[in-house]
Amino acid sequence: MESAARAKLAAADRVAVLTGAGVSAESGIPTFRGAGGLWEGFRPEELATPAAYARDPEKVWRWYAWRYRQVSRAEPNQAHLLLAELERMKGDGFTLVTQNVDGLHRRAGNRRLIELHGSITRARCERCGHRQPLPSADEFEPPPLCENCGERMRPDVVWFGEFLDPDLLARAERAFTTAAVALVIGTSAVVEPAASLGRIAKAAGAYLIEINPEATPLTPLADLSLRETAARGLAAVFPK
Ligand code: OAD
Repeated sequence: MESAARAKLAAADRVAVLTGAGVSAESGIPTFRGAGGLWEGFRPEELATPAAYARDPEKVWRWYAWRYRQVSRAEPNQAHLLLAELERMKGDGFTLVTQNVDGLHRRAGNRRLIELHGSITRARCERCGHRQPLPSADEFEPPPLCENCGERMRPDVVWFGEFLDPDLLARAERAFTTAAVALVIGTSAVVEPAASLGRIAKAAGAYLIEINPEATPLTPLADLSLRETAARGLAAVFPK
């Protein structure tokens, strides 16, 4: 099975990849739905919402500043590096869609990258919409103020109950609709609309590979579902 998947991936001219928090687990960043994902006893769903921010912006910013420090100390792992190499092999036919906001795919070298849920390394002005990178994690004291208008800024991420950028979502859907091989790695595949991308690809005729130590709602649909970590699973199907 793995050799068939490796041959499909080697031959594919169009490859679409979806990643979730599991890809960064081996960089030491906790996943959302695991026990280690809690922060001071709060679930992410209690913090990553517009209502939580309206109620207590300092608390939400403290959580993001903590995660920003964690991400800044982390390094891309072998899974990130293999995905950067896959992009170099496939060129224009490659698209990487990530739900992760940690910026590790970009740091690993991926450029044909769609960060569907935004980035923890940037802030967005609450008044004028201007975006700017956060200062280095050592210097950062939340909340950041807009360099254009002086207003308080919010994290430049998508919260529960908010819409994704429609252009980014359309590009992601196009990549998965036209992919010959779709890889879904390290996501619990429960948060929409990202969770549907694997299904869209499969319905459009792609060969679907899932890599996850646990089964997910996508598992029954996959042509190959590897119960492996991201780095080991990718190495197993990587074109030689
Ligand atoms: P989750 O925390 O829901 O799921 C992480 C997945 O990674 C699980 O299915 C684990 O089994 C798997 N996993 C754990 N360790 C792994 C490893 N070493 N290699 C591969 N897989 C591993 O994270 P996401 O699916 O990314 O949204 O969550 C989706 C969205 O929900 C996030 O983007 C975030 C969150 O709330 C927003 O913030 C909008």
